[in-house]
Amino acid sequence: MNSIEDIKKELLAANCKTQEEFEAFRVKYISRKSIFAELFSRMMNVPDSEKKAYGQNINELKNLAHDKFKALAANLDSESEVSKAPYDLTLPSSKGKIGSQHPITIVRNRIIEIFEKIGFNISHGPEIEDDWHNFTALNFPPNHPAREMQDTFFIKKDPDIALRTHTSSVQIRVMENTKPPIRTLCPGRVFRNEAISARAHCIFHQVEGFYVNKNVSFVDLKQTLFHFAKEMFGKDTKVRYRPSYFPFTEPSAEIDISCNICKGDGCNICKYTGWLEIAGSGMIDPNVFENCKIDPDKYTGFAFGMGIERIAMLKWEINDLRLFTENDIRFLDQFKSF
Ligand code: DAH
Repeated sequence: MNSIEDIKKELLAANCKTQEEFEAFRVKYISRKSIFAELFSRMMNVPDSEKKAYGQNINELKNLAHDKFKALAANLDSESEVSKAPYDLTLPSSKGKIGSQHPITIVRNRIIEIFEKIGFNISHGPEIEDDWHNFTALNFPPNHPAREMQDTFFIKKDPDIALRTHTSSVQIRVMENTKPPIRTLCPGRVFRNEAISARAHCIFHQVEGFYVNKNVSFVDLKQTLFHFAKEMFGKDTKVRYRPSYFPFTEPSAEIDISCNICKGDGCNICKYTGWLEIAGSGMIDPNVFENCKIDPDKYTGFAFGMGIERIAMLKWEINDLRLFTENDIRFLDQFKSF
């Protein structure tokens, strides 16, 4: 074996042009079977008085080998990959097309964000529902004409199983399983047997919200939705409540906001009324509480339900409901900045 001096000279002069030469260097100086294993094993034959100096020399040499190894690796990288490539690897790559969130997702998340900040949590229910949760427990008696407000896709008859026509069914599922106070938001997909047009679709999305506690009043409903409307559509938004009918609320109200496009002057979006309907709402009917084994003498609550597509259409002046499901990139691309 060569002397330490010889090895040092050889190390300093080492140069690798190919991966093979580099690998040979690694095996000789870096691997477990490197010459250093051999050099250390010679330690036994070195007289005691020289052991320390010998050890130091080998260690220095070993450090030198490691530094050299790093330098050779860096050199080889730049030599082989960049300068020898038949093209310029330093040029920026062409940009891949990055998608955006769907407008329905954007609006749903925004609604959730607004209500979460005022203490609502999130609940989910199944899209395939039984008659009890979609209708009967919500105070739609069998054969009641109110069921006709919602054209239903039935999957099975007797017992009836259907695609849920609204997210109000989640109210029942939550109230059956939770003790008040309850303050929750239920976003989800709903289905109705409607002919598809610019204004109607057989699949759309709703967000249901409700609050049950002692002493909840209509004032709480008004303030909560007023807060929502201002957060969603801007602080100058006005809200009005129109008397309405839903089987599961009493009294019931339709919620309108001042038209955010014409600011109330009248335009074709608000059909020259200055107002846009955004949700149905009301105080939860005592019968609904009883159906869920909640004492209506002890608790009261409000509920509301709104269509996510409708909110998105108002927010961005979208005039055709079908755009949400057609997956036309020219439409979807416009929501990148939200
Ligand atoms: N479920 C109703 C629908 O789909 C919307 C609704 C109205 C929900 C009033 C409510 C409410 O919670 O109180 O037409």
